[in-house]
Amino acid sequence: MSATIRLDYLSIFPDYFDVLHISLLGKAVEHGIVEVHSWDLRDWTHDRHRTVDDTPCGGGAGMVMKPEPWGEALDELLGTEADPSIHIVVPTPSGYPFRQQDAEELSGVTRIVFCCGRYEGIDHRVLDYARERWSVHELSLGDYVLNGGEVAALAITEAVVRLVPGVIGNPESLTEESYSDAQEGLLEYPNFTRPVSWRGLEVPEVLMSGHHGRIAQWRHDRSVEITRSRRPDLI
Ligand code: ADE
Repeated sequence: MSATIRLDYLSIFPDYFDVLHISLLGKAVEHGIVEVHSWDLRDWTHDRHRTVDDTPCGGGAGMVMKPEPWGEALDELLGTEADPSIHIVVPTPSGYPFRQQDAEELSGVTRIVFCCGRYEGIDHRVLDYARERWSVHELSLGDYVLNGGEVAALAITEAVVRLVPGVIGNPESLTEESYSDAQEGLLEYPNFTRPVSWRGLEVPEVLMSGHHGRIAQWRHDRSVEITRSRRPDLI
C-alpha cells in the first residue's frame, strides 16, 4: 500500500526533520500513512565548499541562496514536467499567513515538497520557475523572523499531517478545537479533568453537573470571552 501523502524536505540542515519520526507523526510514518524524505541541498552543489549562497544583487546585508542547487534538486525530485497536483511549500516571513484552512487544504494532497531557505531567502527565480510547474505556497507562521524555514516547515507539517485521515485515533477531538468549524471561529474554551479539587483549585461546578445544555452554554461563553480578550480580530 502506498502512503496517503508524501512529504519531502529540502534544507541545508536535513537533520532537523529527524523529529518527524517521533510522537504522532512518527506513528503515522510507521503505519505507512505518511512517507517522509529529507534532503541535503548541498548534495546538489558542485564546488569544493558546497556553496549554496552568494551576495545579493543590488547590494545589501546578508546572503541569498543561489538558484542552481534548488533547480537541480527540484528537477531530480520532481522532474521538469508541470504537475499542479504537486505542492511546494516555501516557509518565509514574507509569505501569506498560514491558517487552519491551508492545513486542511494541504492535508488532502498527495505530495508536498518543503523548500527551507536560510539567510535572506532563496533567489526569486526559483519560485517563478516552480510556479510555472507546480502549486507553490509561500507561507508565514507569524509576524516574527526565524533563522530559516525548517522550524516553520515542521510546524506546518504537524498542522497538516494530524488532519490526514487515520493519523488521529479519535477524529472527534479535531472538531471542537480552536479554528475548527464547530468552534465558529472562536478560540477553544478551557478544559479540565479530575481530580475535581487540586491544590485548592476547583473544576467549575457546571462541568460536573451532567447538564449538557448548561455545559455547552458555559463553554461557548468562555470561548467568546477568551477570543474577545486575546484575538478581537476573530470576532
Ligand atoms: N522563515 C523565517 N521566518 C519565518 C516565519 N515567520 N514564517 C515562516 N517561515 C519563516
